[in-house]
Amino acid sequence: MSQGLTAYVNGEFVALEDATIHIEDRGFQFADGIYEVVACFGGNFLDLEPHLQRLKRSCDGVHIPLPCSLEKIATLVQQTYDKNPFDDAMVYIQITRGIAPRSHLPQSELTPTLVITSRELPKPSDAKLATGAKAITLQDIRWKHCDIKSIALLASVLGKQQAHAQNADEAFWLDEEGHVLEGCSTNILAIIDGVLVTHPLDHQVLGGITRDMALRVAKAHGMRIEERAWKLDEQGLNQTMMSSTTNAVMPVCFINNQAIGDGKPGQETMQIRQWMLEAMEDLRSA
Ligand code: PDD
Repeated sequence: MSQGLTAYVNGEFVALEDATIHIEDRGFQFADGIYEVVACFGGNFLDLEPHLQRLKRSCDGVHIPLPCSLEKIATLVQQTYDKNPFDDAMVYIQITRGIAPRSHLPQSELTPTLVITSRELPKPSDAKLATGAKAITLQDIRWKHCDIKSIALLASVLGKQQAHAQNADEAFWLDEEGHVLEGCSTNILAIIDGVLVTHPLDHQVLGGITRDMALRVAKAHGMRIEERAWKLDEQGLNQTMMSSTTNAVMPVCFINNQAIGDGKPGQETMQIRQWMLEAMEDLRSA
C-alpha cells in the first residue's frame, strides 16, 4: 500500500507514487549505497541515535560522504514520519553515491542521493509468534563486509527465496566451520545452558541495533550473555531466536525441519521479547 504516502527524495517531499530516481543513479546500477531501518512507536523513535551512528559508519565504510549532517538527517527523518505518522512506523533511509554515467570508478565530485520513507511497521503475526518461526541454514555466500549495511542484498534475497521455497521464514548463514553468523535480515541468538549467546561483532555480521537491545535488557535483568562463535548442535542449546527492527525478538523453533528444544517458543526467548515490548510500550506512552 503506497496510496497517500509521502517520501523524501533529494530535498523534496513528494507523493510516494511519484517518487523516482534517475536510471543512472549508482544505487540502481551498482548497488552503490547503504541504508537504515528505524522503528517509531507513538511518534517516538527507538534508538534513533545508534541507527544514525551506524548510517555514518556504513557511509564511511564505502567512502560515500554524508549528504548532510546527521542532525539534518534526523530532522528529515522526523519530517518524513510527520507526513506519514503511523502509530507503529518503520522509517527507511537510503543513501547512494549519486548519479553519473556508468563507470565502476566513481567520479570524485558526486552528490549523494538521499531517500527517506515512512510506512506502517510490519510485525510478526500472533499465529507466527505462537508457533515460532522456521529457518533453514545456508553456507554464507555474502561479501566480507557484512558489518556495513549495504543495499547490495542479492545474496540475502536468494537466501530468503530459498527459505520460502522450503516453507521457512529465514535462512541462517553459516561460516565454513558451521558457526551461525546471522540471518538474511536478522541477527540470531540462542539460549545455551540458560545463557544468551550470539556471534560476536565482526565483519561477518551486522551490528544489529535490536541485537544490542536484546543483550542489554537480558543483562539488565540478570541473565548471563556471551558473544562468541556457536553452533546449532551444541549441548544445552534449547532455543534460538532472531532479532531485527521489524521483529523485536522472534522465536525460531524449527531449523532444517528439526525441532529446537521442544519445538515451541521458549521461556527465556519470550521473556526477552516481553522486556523489549515493554520498552516499546514506554515509548508509545512517553
Ligand atoms: N535488516 N542482520 C542483517 C543482515 C540485517 O539486514 C538486519 C536488519 C539485521 C538486524 O538489524 P537491526 O536490529 O538493526 O534491524 C541483522 C533490516 C530490518 C532490513 O533489511 O529490512
